[in-house]
Amino acid sequence: MKIVFICLGNICRSPLAEAVAKKEIKKYQNKDISISSAGTASWHIGKPPCDKSQMIANKFDLDISSYRGFQITNSNANDYDYFIAVDESTYSHTLSFNIDSSKVFKLGSFGLNNADIPDTYYIESQKEIENVYKMIETSVHNCLEFIISNEPNL
Ligand code: 4NP
Repeated sequence: MKIVFICLGNICRSPLAEAVAKKEIKKYQNKDISISSAGTASWHIGKPPCDKSQMIANKFDLDISSYRGFQITNSNANDYDYFIAVDESTYSHTLSFNIDSSKVFKLGSFGLNNADIPDTYYIESQKEIENVYKMIETSVHNCLEFIISNEPNL
């Protein structure tokens, strides 16, 4: 079961979601789940996560420094089973790929009243960045519970 978290640049929000999810799935060691992240844009292919996301990840004992930007496109989207987009715009972009749209979700639909995850790329306040992390932590947790309950054969 391959889950991909999707944002725009794959350097701020989705790498955090990936790291939180990788930590969460340690609980489900007997399940065949792989987690990754991607951006809909090509700008940051091969680049490390933004400093602010690396900083907040470190604060919560996660190391994302080795992650590198990757772009999801119509040609590689079929490599994944579940597509979790961080906001409305990347959600719509993901729906435009030639994939099973019933497997495309917005991260904020998992316990955040469908909110968009604010983009740490544009946020300076440490408190707000921490709030984004908390939003990701809550929604990723709920999202994984949903996927696991939705996949009885996992
Ligand atoms: P992300 O944030 O989608 O969470 O990785 C952004 C990263 C880069 C840009 C915009 C958003 N950018 O315009 O380069």
